[in-house]
Amino acid sequence: MDKILGICGSLRAQSYNRKLLQTAVHRYGDCQIEMADIDLPLYNGDVEDRGIQQSVQTLADQLRAADGVIICTPEYNKAIPGGLKNALDWISRIPGGLWARKPVATLSAAAGRTGGEAGLYHMRHCLLPLGADLITQPTVCIAQAQAEFDDAGQMTNDRYLASIDKLMQALARQIAQNRG
Ligand SMILES: Cc1cc2nc3c(=O)[nH]c(=O)nc-3n(C[C@H](O)[C@H](O)[C@H](O)COP(=O)(O)O)c2cc1C
Repeated sequence: MDKILGICGSLRAQSYNRKLLQTAVHRYGDCQIEMADIDLPLYNGDVEDRGIQQSVQTLADQLRAADGVIICTPEYNKAIPGGLKNALDWISRIPGGLWARKPVATLSAAAGRTGGEAGLYHMRHCLLPLGADLITQPTVCIAQAQAEFDDAGQMTNDRYLASIDKLMQALARQIAQNRG
């Protein structure tokens, strides 16, 4: 069974991106899912010199073990949230190139009319130097996300669901291909 690591770029409990991530995982189908905790201390080289903290090591271990990753993130002022960038920076300090050739599907949800598209492209920009195998089609940006989930947190828009399905199928195909 494919091992998937889910990363939500928002730290808040009622995050629309967390709901989107749960939807994407559900639509992926049978898989073993781990959810990342990116609520990490701010990267500081002095802290690193004292040793990698357990929360960072846990995230790195989850990433190493994953066959593929799904990242759902809001945009904050047209870029990814600082907490998500901080997590990428910490992971990049762990030896072994953990993102290299890792299939990664990126999605966004935002309150605005563009659905966080600028943030989504920024996310991809941040992942490229880490060597991630980005799954880019179709683009899934949930606009005015507050109107697209019901009280139970389920996505209600069939058009978005169809795009999420296609993206998850592309992720599964890439994972299968990498496995050989
Ligand atoms: C610091 C900050 C910056 C934001 N910048 C944007 C933005 O650039 N574009 C946008 O559509 N929404 C922006 N928003 C609104 C978010 O889309 C909205 O808060 C969304 O619910 C955040 O995602 P979440 O529900 O997963 O936490 C911003 C919100 C915050 C807190």
